[in-house]
Amino acid sequence: MREILVTSALPYANGYIHLGHLVEYIQTDIWVRAMKAQGHTVTYVCADDAHGTAIMLKAEDNGVTPEEQIATVKASHEADFATFLIDFDNYHSTHSVENQHFSELIYRRLNSAGHISTRDVEQLFDPEKNLFLADRFVKGTCPECGSPDQYGDNCEVCGTTYDATDLINPRSTLSDATPVLKTSKHYFFDLPEFEQFLQDWTRSDNRLQPSVANKLQEWFDAGLTSWDISRDAPYFGFQIPDTPSDEPDKYFYVWLDAPVGYMASFKNLCEQRAGTDNALDFDHYWAQENEHKTEVYHFIGKDIVYFHALFWPAMLAGSEFRTPTGVFAHGFLMVNGEKMSKSRGTFIKAETYAEHLHPEYLRYYFASKLSDKVEDINLDLEDFMQKVNSDLVGKVVNIASRSAGFIVKKYDGMLSDVCAEPRLLEDVTKTGDEIAAAYENREFSRAMRLIMQCADKANEYIDDKKPWALAKLEGTEKEVQDVCSVAINIFRQLMVYLAPVLPELTDNAKAFLNIDDLSFHSRNQWLLGHQINKFKPLMQRIEQQDIDAMVEASKASLGESQEATNQATVSQKTDQTATKSGADVVEDNSEPTDYIGIEDFAKVEMKVAHVLACDYVEGADKLLQFTLDVGEDKPRNVFSGIRKFYEPEQLIGKKVICVTNLASRKMKFGISEGMVLSTGNPKTQLTVITLPENCVVGDLLA
Ligand code: 2FM
Ligand code: ZN
Repeated sequence: MREILVTSALPYANGYIHLGHLVEYIQTDIWVRAMKAQGHTVTYVCADDAHGTAIMLKAEDNGVTPEEQIATVKASHEADFATFLIDFDNYHSTHSVENQHFSELIYRRLNSAGHISTRDVEQLFDPEKNLFLADRFVKGTCPECGSPDQYGDNCEVCGTTYDATDLINPRSTLSDATPVLKTSKHYFFDLPEFEQFLQDWTRSDNRLQPSVANKLQEWFDAGLTSWDISRDAPYFGFQIPDTPSDEPDKYFYVWLDAPVGYMASFKNLCEQRAGTDNALDFDHYWAQENEHKTEVYHFIGKDIVYFHALFWPAMLAGSEFRTPTGVFAHGFLMVNGEKMSKSRGTFIKAETYAEHLHPEYLRYYFASKLSDKVEDINLDLEDFMQKVNSDLVGKVVNIASRSAGFIVKKYDGMLSDVCAEPRLLEDVTKTGDEIAAAYENREFSRAMRLIMQCADKANEYIDDKKPWALAKLEGTEKEVQDVCSVAINIFRQLMVYLAPVLPELTDNAKAFLNIDDLSFHSRNQWLLGHQINKFKPLMQRIEQQDIDAMVEASKASLGESQEATNQATVSQKTDQTATKSGADVVEDNSEPTDYIGIEDFAKVEMKVAHVLACDYVEGADKLLQFTLDVGEDKPRNVFSGIRKFYEPEQLIGKKVICVTNLASRKMKFGISEGMVLSTGNPKTQLTVITLPENCVVGDLLA
């Protein structure tokens, strides 16, 4: 029997749980239940990730203290997880005494081993809010292409990455104030010292999926850099201990204490269980010398691999704790083949989903899609309805509903003493080994396929024997009982196999089958001469109207509080630059939070423009400079970030679309008096939209 500790990533305490989050919690919960059902001792812990600037600002917006904010959100997260049958052994918070204890302990050990250093960092500072601004809280004009309203780390128009301090006309998104440069002392964790250890660690013992190991190799090739683990006040988090008393207080960056939250939640559980039959020993799971006695697994999204496969093992190794046995990354959730979208109603809160549809539908659908790969999974709502209805209602539940009636009515609920089709039942029992292995290897989609193949066999058997026809004939009593007993036995095996995915349905099936065990091993004991109870429908079909209502309700919540934008799970941060900001990133999946009305659209003035001249710009490798006739007294000067894609001659003489009422922008190379519209992706290919020759210069586009 193995002893296993499992975690899912800790959700931020500033927003609600949505279906994107649930991929991970459902994946982990299924794995934990499957491993428990195979007889292992498994402990599943999680917590709210409660620190950081974003949470502090959120509390401020809501007019509450950070402690009140995180308490409210924690309660809502716990309610959502319970609804989706996520069975944590403990759900804690990173804002806890245990977490403070271990964060300080790890820091102190790293510090005494010489892995912490300090240096001055110059950063933009909001003089009105009195705080340093993470990149995502600064916006300004791109220093490269001149596009306005770009974030402090990279330009969404031309793709250039830069430092927030390079932005032209920067402003704080928090107060609109112009930030000033300010220097402060920061504490750094010396990641490069762990390079050799990490190179070995990430490549041995199958700790990581192959694609994750490859990604890490890219990061090694690019060179590891030391990690800034401190933040200045005001910050909601733990103060860094042992800093000079005559210097300003420093706080641990949220990502320092977040993974420590795994230990803290486990420690809290150890305390709760002390002295009971299922007591847990903290050191047994976390002490370095026990690394090979117990197993620790982290389930995470692909966006936070850097933290879990580099920083975290290095922190643990450097502070004499054991490192994880495995880190399992999953992809993101798409809905109807696209990124979740508030305007399309596919950005669905857990709570909204559950108001319209049963959580087990989603658990099954995700299971049927999940594998051990880091691939995105697609929730196609049409396919979702069909799959659940056809597999669960049409195939699985149908086996019981077609057979139970005869047994209960005609044989007083008694199943045959002998199995009439032992080969079939043996076959299904044996498939259980493959299903168990598929669960353990996180190949849930394979497990679901195997289970449905068993269900198909049962239905074919029933179709072939036709108990309903037999029942009308004389002298076939025994045969009807035998056929239905085989069917009920297969149904019971299916309940064993589906229990990790459908805990509620299978629990109800236990009452019907009059059994109290659905562990994997229990399937070897066939139900012979066993009494079952009256069958009650175990699952309803999904109706299209329920899906429509859920989508509409999700659209309706569009205008609700900004909460909706504070989700990080679906962000695509996989590079080192992006990880800089971590939880300070308030909006990672910036779906439009609102539609614009026609009156706003009408404000944009677009005119037919004639390209009189087009030139390279010295010193700007992304820009072309246009001289445009837009039907005014004098031509306009416009810069556009398309140099990579065009020779100037290709555009001279063309009719293009110019946005003519965009405020002029002062750039390093001159003033840009409009924008030339193009289509495509600034990183790969942009195509300037050209108009037919007969369009009249200066005419408005409408
Ligand atoms: O990305 C996130 O949503 C983080 N709150 C995950 C933290 S996981 C762990 F390290 F705490
Ligand atoms: Zn740019």
